[in-house]
Parts: sequence; structure tokens; C-alpha cells
Amino acid sequence: MKAVVLEETRQVVVREVPDAEMQETTDVLLRITSTAICGTDLHCYEGRMRGIEGGVIGHEPLGIVEEVGSAVVNVKKGDRVTVPTHICCGFCAMCVQGSSSACLTTNPGTAGAAYGYPNKGGYQGAQTELLRVPFADANCLKLPGDPGDDWEDDFVLLADAFTTGYHGAAIIDTAPGDTVAIFGAGAVGLLAAYSARLRGAARIYVVDAIAERLEKAGEIGAVPINFLHGDPVEQIKEQQSKWRSGSAFRQETPLGGVTCAIDAIGFQARSKTDYKLEDPFWVTDAIAELINPAGRVAIIGVWPVQDPKAIEPSLRQGELTLPWAKLFNKNVRITMGRDDDERWNSKLRDMIVTGAAKPSQVVSHRLSLDAAPAAFAKFDAREEGYIKVVLKP
Ligand SMILES: NC(=O)c1ccc[n+]([C@@H]2O[C@H](COP(=O)([O-])OP(=O)(O)OC[C@H]3O[C@@H](n4cnc5c(N)ncnc54)[C@H](O)[C@@H]3O)[C@@H](O)[C@H]2O)c1
Ligand SMILES: [Zn+2]
Ligand SMILES: [Zn+2]
Repeated sequence: MKAVVLEETRQVVVREVPDAEMQETTDVLLRITSTAICGTDLHCYEGRMRGIEGGVIGHEPLGIVEEVGSAVVNVKKGDRVTVPTHICCGFCAMCVQGSSSACLTTNPGTAGAAYGYPNKGGYQGAQTELLRVPFADANCLKLPGDPGDDWEDDFVLLADAFTTGYHGAAIIDTAPGDTVAIFGAGAVGLLAAYSARLRGAARIYVVDAIAERLEKAGEIGAVPINFLHGDPVEQIKEQQSKWRSGSAFRQETPLGGVTCAIDAIGFQARSKTDYKLEDPFWVTDAIAELINPAGRVAIIGVWPVQDPKAIEPSLRQGELTLPWAKLFNKNVRITMGRDDDERWNSKLRDMIVTGAAKPSQVVSHRLSLDAAPAAFAKFDAREEGYIKVVLKP
């Protein structure tokens, strides 16, 4: 089968690899029709999360079931399914409580497994033609329709990007009337903004510095904030004061910040003054400054345990200094981590099917598998409007 292989840092090739094979009676083989490239793949591409070099990359598949293990009961040959990035078993203590991204059996000795991902169980990646799906009954999410229909690019986002964006909005209970600031306008941040809107937020700000992504945030109904055009905290406070001024609601002076904030960037956040440089410190400082008392913060951008190429020694060991007292004195709630895809994917599927949600509005490029090397380079450079690429094996 043909697959996208990360040979070495910034060296992606498309080549033949041995066909994926059934290993357990609980497996299925999935013939992939769409498979997306994620910001997480870029962490690997840039050599910042190492461990899958020489292997197939990718973790966002959609396809048709081709072969079914004898112990699988819920899925049959020909079913259209997507599977979550984070591989789950469905029966361990973490899975049954809804924490599927911390599954205890799919990557024994640690919590959580994923396709094509360092330290996540060694499962082959999903940017290929054929994928082995373990514990198929727990992982396969059945979908209506046929390959290539109007839902194709919505359904592929159920594997990770839409569920993660929704996870960010949901774990901080984003609700009607909330004001939400989202840092990062990649597919995950944009879909967090979209999810905040679906959940009734009154006003949403999306912070980034890339014109096409900020424009997309505006189309989704958020207020775009370019952090290179001035301190984003000041820009957002200024916007807040415009619609929520002085005595408009109650007699007390309104709080100037936001009720919810989401970090959808992670450890490779850029400097506030020079996009070419990294500086993840200022983002949490900005969030701590911007969040209102009793506010809620979600960190969904990825933070690896080690990053030898980080700008500062503490960061290399995965340690980030936080304005702890400021957060404490504001009674802020912070929630973080990987997306428990299984908690949301069937609900979000139903919203797509009824027309209540159309996440594919963030997809910017639909390309053949062969186009992966060029797509990685352009997506990594954030050029030519590359926001979310879906490959079509
Ligand atoms: N928690 C999870 O389960 C989960 C799942 C999927 C992806 N992720 C992570 O979410 C993050 C975003 O994923 P993506 O696919 O959207 O990636 P992406 O690389 O396309 O988007 C990141 C965006 O952040 C912007 N950015 C960089 N520095 C910034 C700063 N200081 N302030 C504001 N914006 C800044 C970039 O310009 C870019 O648009 C990645 O770290 C990815 O690994 C986490
Ligand atoms: Zn992803
Ligand atoms: Zn499990």
C-alpha cells in the first residue's frame, strides 16, 4: 500500500510499505477515503516530537471497513466509519468513565494510545490506504452516506480536529452568554471557536497572526485579533469595553476580560513581536491577565514531556512558569489535556447529519496522497492559505 512516511525531520515521502494486516480477532481493516494532516503532525515533522521517523504518520482517518475480525459484533464489511485519534478499548477503567484518551490497555504501562504518534503504542499512522483498527467495536463510529459525498470532509474532522475543538469548549463548560478568547487559529482553534458558538457564547475572540486564518475566524463569527498588531490582551479588553460599557447592564463596573480562554497552540507558540521566533511564556501570561475572576481556562494545544529544541532549559523538561498567584487570586479553573474523542464524536456526528454543524468550513485543501510532501512543507510554513489539508488516498 502507498503511505506517507516521515523519513527524517522535514523529510516526508510517499512510498510503498507492507499492507496493514489483521492481528487480533477484535480488529478491522479500514480502506481510507480521507485522512487529514494535523498541527500535531507538524511537531513531528519539525523534529520536536521524535520517535516515528521511518514510519507512517497521521492519525485522522475516515474510510470503509474492508475486513472484519471474528470477534467484532458492531461493524460489518462495507460500513463507513471514522475512528478516533486516541485508540481506546472501551472496557478499561479510564474508557468506562469517558476518559478514552487515557485508555489503559491499548498502550500498556502508560495511559493513552494513538496512530502514527510518538510514545503512543507504536501504532502505524493513518495517512495511507489501509489501516488496522484495534478494538473495532469501541473505535469505529458508524456514519451514513457514501465516500466523496457532502459529508466527507465533515466526517474526517470527527477523528480529531472537531472533537478536540469541541472538547476545549466543553471541558470549561462554555455556555450561553460566555465571552471566549481562543489563542491559535489552526483547525483546532477555529473549531474551538465554532464549538463555542454552537454552545451559545456571546462573543468569541480568536488570536493569531496569519491573515487567512484570522479571516476564517471572522467567517465563523469570532472577532479576529492579530497579536502582531498590538498587545492582544489590550485589544480584547478594548473590544469588550465597546459592547459592555459602564452602566449598560448593572451598576458595577463590568469586568474587562473574558469568562473563558482556550490555548489551542501548545508548546511551539510564537513570540509576540516576531513570528519567526518561539516564546510560549507570554500566552499563559496573557490568558492569566485576560481571564475574569472565576473564569475557566482550557489548554488543548500539545505539551510534550521533553523538547530538546525548546528556547529555554525549563521548557526542555516540559516545565512552564505560570503566574500562579494571579490565577489563584482570580479563582480560575484550569483544565487541560488530550481530547477524549469518544465523549463527543457520536454527538458531533449527529449534528453534522442533521445540518446543525458544518466543521468542513475550516478545510482549505483537498489533495491526493502523492501531494503530501508539498502539503507538509506549505502547511508547516503556514503559506498559501494552508489551514487544514485533507488527503484523498
Ligand atoms: N489536546 C488534543 O487532544 C489535541 C488534538 C489535536 C491537536 N492538538 C494540538 O493542538 C494544537 C493546534 O493544532 P492545529 O492543528 O490547529 O495546529 P496549527 O499549527 O495549524 O495551528 C496553530 C496556530 O497557532 C498559531 N500561533 C502560534 N503562536 C501563537 C501565539 N503566540 N498566539 C496566537 N496564535 C499563535 C499559529 O499561527 C497557528 O495558526 C497543536 O499543538 C496540536 O498538537 C491537541
Ligand atoms: Zn490531529
Ligand atoms: Zn480503555
